[in-house]
Amino acid sequence: MCSIIGYSGNEDAAPIIVKGLKRMEYRGYDSVGVATESNSQIELKKGVGKVEDVNSKVQLDILPGKIGIGHTRWATHGKVTDANAHPHSSNSGQIAIVHNGIIENFDKLKDDLKSEGYKFLSETDSEVIANLLQKNYAISKNVKDTMIKTVSELKGHFSFIAMFDNGQLAAARFHEPLIIGVGEKNYFLSSDVLGFIEQTDEAIYIDNGNFILIDQEKMQILDFDGNEVKPVITKVSKEFADVYKGDYAHFTLKEISEQSETIFKAGESTKEAIKETSDYLKHAKNIYLTGSGTSYNASLVGKHLLSKYAKIKTESIISSELPFSPDIIEPNSILIALSQSGESADVLEAVSIAKKADCKIISIINSLTSTLARESDIVIGMNCGPEIGVAATKSFTSQLIILYKIIQELSNEKIEINFPEISGAISKILQEHNNIKKIANVIKDISDIYVLGRGIHYPIAIESALKIKELTYIHAEGIAGGELKHGPLALMDSNVFVIIINPGDSTYQDTLTSAREIKARGAKIIGISDSNSDAYDYWIKLPKTDELTFPISETIPIQLLSYYAALEKDTDPDYPRNLAKSVTVK
Ligand code: G6P
Repeated sequence: MCSIIGYSGNEDAAPIIVKGLKRMEYRGYDSVGVATESNSQIELKKGVGKVEDVNSKVQLDILPGKIGIGHTRWATHGKVTDANAHPHSSNSGQIAIVHNGIIENFDKLKDDLKSEGYKFLSETDSEVIANLLQKNYAISKNVKDTMIKTVSELKGHFSFIAMFDNGQLAAARFHEPLIIGVGEKNYFLSSDVLGFIEQTDEAIYIDNGNFILIDQEKMQILDFDGNEVKPVITKVSKEFADVYKGDYAHFTLKEISEQSETIFKAGESTKEAIKETSDYLKHAKNIYLTGSGTSYNASLVGKHLLSKYAKIKTESIISSELPFSPDIIEPNSILIALSQSGESADVLEAVSIAKKADCKIISIINSLTSTLARESDIVIGMNCGPEIGVAATKSFTSQLIILYKIIQELSNEKIEINFPEISGAISKILQEHNNIKKIANVIKDISDIYVLGRGIHYPIAIESALKIKELTYIHAEGIAGGELKHGPLALMDSNVFVIIINPGDSTYQDTLTSAREIKARGAKIIGISDSNSDAYDYWIKLPKTDELTFPISETIPIQLLSYYAALEKDTDPDYPRNLAKSVTVK
């Protein structure tokens, strides 16, 4: 997703901005650009590609000046081209902007501005902000009034930073993240604390509907009506700075490998919140779980766990679907929102729908300073450390652990979770990487992979298929075992690989039968199980663990398989094409 960044201080802005953009690369992007102000002149450079490549081509980091803005773009309006990359400059060249979000009324604004003689050089919605600011600045002659007028004319979701050629920075937030980093003699603006964490750990999280003015060393926060807002400084965990790969080739491999540790940490710091959550769940009439992508898949596991082990009925809802059937939500219910980032626009919208129905919001989040955390009544932290790889790995298993802890709490500690055993199982699977690598080499040229599981293993099959898609670009689909005969069997032939999730529990025999039915049609079978079978062409051994925690251990081999297949295919596992870590637009 787009990242925006701004700097105003006593050091050269461009190298700081380039460094900040690199740290936010994980959010996903296709082009990059920087603009700085020096001697009342704005200079701007941009291009398609990674920060590193564009920088070596056009030297973004040698732009002159102590004030600047930067951007990584994830295309929404207009193709991936140099012209569409940000920053965008106003026609007079007096103002440059970077923007994250979508301006819904950009067509109308653009037509109006065109009729007044403004020219547009890109296909983006964002460029209207630059010219609208120029128009309003020409009238009011001061940045504060220009911002008040401009934000009142914009519709949609946005956070943007504008740089004026008099050296002033202005930024506004409306449903997209915007954070100020407060240094000793400098200010940073960013979509993410990672944009400035190396320089300062003091942050101000800007509320929706507020804007910022930075003039040299003076900073002011105002609401969209122009009333001053008192800044609240938060100390950001230094852990965020720990975003290096260390000895690992990729963040994705590092994060997969960390899971033998992160499962211990999940929810550690928020035991009280887990207790409070279980009290609410015991007395709730209706409980809904929601999330997007991997977090939604975790919610499906949660639905199984709560029904099987706590006899509590819940409904899992894909966040982006809720706006189309909001009446599913009964008033005064509980909504459990799962999100690694706490910034997914779809999840935030689902939460706002539930809040309108007076629901309690309980969230399971990794980023405790996120918008979702601030919108929630109870926050349970995943505590798994920054997850940089776009495809979620350790956050998924941390979400599962928290769901386990909730059912454990609901059972008055009668349900036991053997953490050392799960951790040991994850380590053993990681040690088996050579077998998994060999299988990755075999599947790399396949065009279709199916993943089959029953019961609680069905959501894991869906999550596994998602991982394969994200990391390898191979078409993959999760199948509920019993549904095989109702359609998917027609697709089985010698060109297909099917991964069978088959641990030794009540689903085992039925799933083995499915494997045999598939094999009889010529497809190749990869069995993930604690026992081998002649039905499998390839076997990935699952260590024996308590049945309760199979969903965690069986997730790891498919994460690894997807990672190694990505390497075989020479795709970038950390930054899959077209995807973003944190999808902050609808
Ligand atoms: C994006 C990411 C996925 C993630 C989903 C939900 O699509 O690429 O990996 O599962 O967003 O993100 P969240 O931060 O809400 O868990």
